[in-house]
Amino acid sequence: MNTLVTGAAGFIGSHLCEHLLAAGDTVRAVDTFTDYYARAVKERNLLASTGHPRFTFAEVDLASDALDELLDGVEVVFHLAGQPGVRPSWGREFDHYTRHNIQATQRLLEAVRGLPLRKFVYASSSSIYGDAETLPTSEWTVPRPISPYGVTKLAAEHLCELYRTGFHIPTASLRLFTVYGPRQRPDMAFHRLLRAALTGRGFELYGDGTQTRDFTFVEDVVVAMRRAAISGWCGVANIGGGARISMNDVLAIVERVTGGPVHVQATGTKRGDVRHTGADVKLARDAFGYRPGTTVPQGLAAMWDWMNEAVEVVA
Ligand code: UGA
Repeated sequence: MNTLVTGAAGFIGSHLCEHLLAAGDTVRAVDTFTDYYARAVKERNLLASTGHPRFTFAEVDLASDALDELLDGVEVVFHLAGQPGVRPSWGREFDHYTRHNIQATQRLLEAVRGLPLRKFVYASSSSIYGDAETLPTSEWTVPRPISPYGVTKLAAEHLCELYRTGFHIPTASLRLFTVYGPRQRPDMAFHRLLRAALTGRGFELYGDGTQTRDFTFVEDVVVAMRRAAISGWCGVANIGGGARISMNDVLAIVERVTGGPVHVQATGTKRGDVRHTGADVKLARDAFGYRPGTTVPQGLAAMWDWMNEAVEVVA
């Protein structure tokens, strides 16, 4: 397949590029290098794909740059670019969220109108559910985001649905549940926890640790994305890790994996954080054979290996 990957230098995007190249696809990768975290980290993320004969990269801002040439000959779009982060999405920062999550998606959807696309895969988020009434949560649950970030991810998802029904763009929105693994974003819990274990610095725990997440390993996510792309299915589906665990359980696993104690400083809960997430993945299983294959202890062990190799970048 000829593919376009947006947000290619990010955590999930860089893994997706490698997965597509390994599967024999051609990858046109773009990223705008927002300053949410260091450019050097993102450039390092791209290293495994850079130089591959079927890989090209361009620095593109989807919210303002011309997009037509970029889409020339593309069969599948994987749209992962966006402004991440649940907790910092309040106040003045919201501008970045509307620009990179809503406007960028709308411009990309406009640009693919009329093209013979095989699939437009959008990286949506579990944060669109907010504090869901039922766990595990199915796609039929009414979305009620409790963070501005979640509102923008849901708005972009609605745009995908709108362009699917209005202009027959074959969109597939995947609601990703707290993705982790090697190269995870430096602001996320597992990255901070393992960095704390490595450096002996403290880890700030938001709340009492009884909050739960359906953590999903990045390799399972990129496999799901490509499977969704080559399937005949369109719509909205959850992608979760298969189990819901608390942050207190995570702390115990991290201590086992790293062989040492983590110094935890408990602070208050953060506005915008949901209490629990849990994915009902039946729809994804039936539609394109999704089956998460990595448990949190296995995934954290892989992440710990990576962090020890990348120590000079993450410490
Ligand atoms: C993550 C991503 O950051 C979002 O971009 C994504 O959209 C979302 O998953 C999703 O599933 O849709 P989050 O669940 O907050 O959001 O992921 P983490 O940063 O890994 O946090 C997991 C838990 O650890 C949360 O309860 C959080 O409050 C806690 N945490 C996080 C801490 O206690 N301390 C920290 O320093 C960071």
